[in-house]
Amino acid sequence: MTDVATTTLPIIEVKNIGKRYGAINALSGISTSVFAGQVTCVLGDNGAGKSTFIKILAGSHSPSEGELLLDGEPVHFTSPRAALDAGIATVYQDLAVVALMPVWRNFFLGSEITKGWGPLRRLDVAAMKSITKVELANMGIDLRDVDQPIGTLSGGERQCVAIARAVYFGARVLILDEPTAALGVKQSGVVLRYIARSRDKGLGVVFITHNPHHAFPVGDRFLLLNRGTSLGTFEKKDITIGELTSLMAGGAELDSLAHELERELGSNSPLVAELQQEATSDRPAR
Ligand SMILES: Nc1ncnc2c1ncn2[C@@H]1O[C@H](COP(=O)(O)OP(=O)(O)OP(=O)(O)O)[C@@H](O)[C@H]1O
Ligand SMILES: [Mg+2]
Repeated sequence: MTDVATTTLPIIEVKNIGKRYGAINALSGISTSVFAGQVTCVLGDNGAGKSTFIKILAGSHSPSEGELLLDGEPVHFTSPRAALDAGIATVYQDLAVVALMPVWRNFFLGSEITKGWGPLRRLDVAAMKSITKVELANMGIDLRDVDQPIGTLSGGERQCVAIARAVYFGARVLILDEPTAALGVKQSGVVLRYIARSRDKGLGVVFITHNPHHAFPVGDRFLLLNRGTSLGTFEKKDITIGELTSLMAGGAELDSLAHELERELGSNSPLVAELQQEATSDRPAR
């Protein structure tokens, strides 16, 4: 437990959460906490259970076992709407945007501002446009025109609009499922900056990624998943990026793979050298 954990109540706490899909045990025994103003990273390889885990937090799956606490009280989200109403906003990788609609329309989709009432009730377009512009500018996104179709924005900019939207609509917890997976280095940097900004605004951010180099600079704690089980939650001060990388890649597995390949390819193979280096990189000089 950290100093923070002993003095502050987490917004979300999961205790021994598990999920079965029929006979498949996708997740078991996961425990971690999400604190306001901090970034909790969820790391793991393909199929590790990352999406399953966040679907439980986001209310789209109910857990088969374990407990979910919100502000210290047990909760059962029956739908994503219920989680959203509790302030838990999720940005999925395949963003649910309407590509041909203007940026401002997407920003307010499902929560439009109207003026007048009864038969005279209509969309307050001017207000929505100006709020969208201001909110994006507050997050450091400078769009030439909020009227342009959101489909014309880059993947990184779209992620940022989705984050700004969640912040504007009062999310306390922001869940991001692999927001940088499809992005190049520069755009990933932009998204990581907005993650840091959301954290600075006091949101509890849950950042899913399989890239330790994206997680480490912004993360406060790291939940490592491997084939549906937890390898633990590590505070930043207790782990190096080398250890994180090695744990994720399964240092022991890489080591045995290197030995196997050495027999086949010979010890001079660059691939073998690379694997050996990865496998032993868990204790680099700080
Ligand atoms: N609806 C489902 N029905 C049956 N099995 C599922 C279902 N969803 C996920 N699984 C299984 O659960 C395991 C974890 O899947 P999950 O999608 O959570 O992994 P992930 O860490 O998000 O992987 P990726 O990095 O590929 O997105 C996998 O073995 C997957 O096949
Ligand atoms: Mg996934």
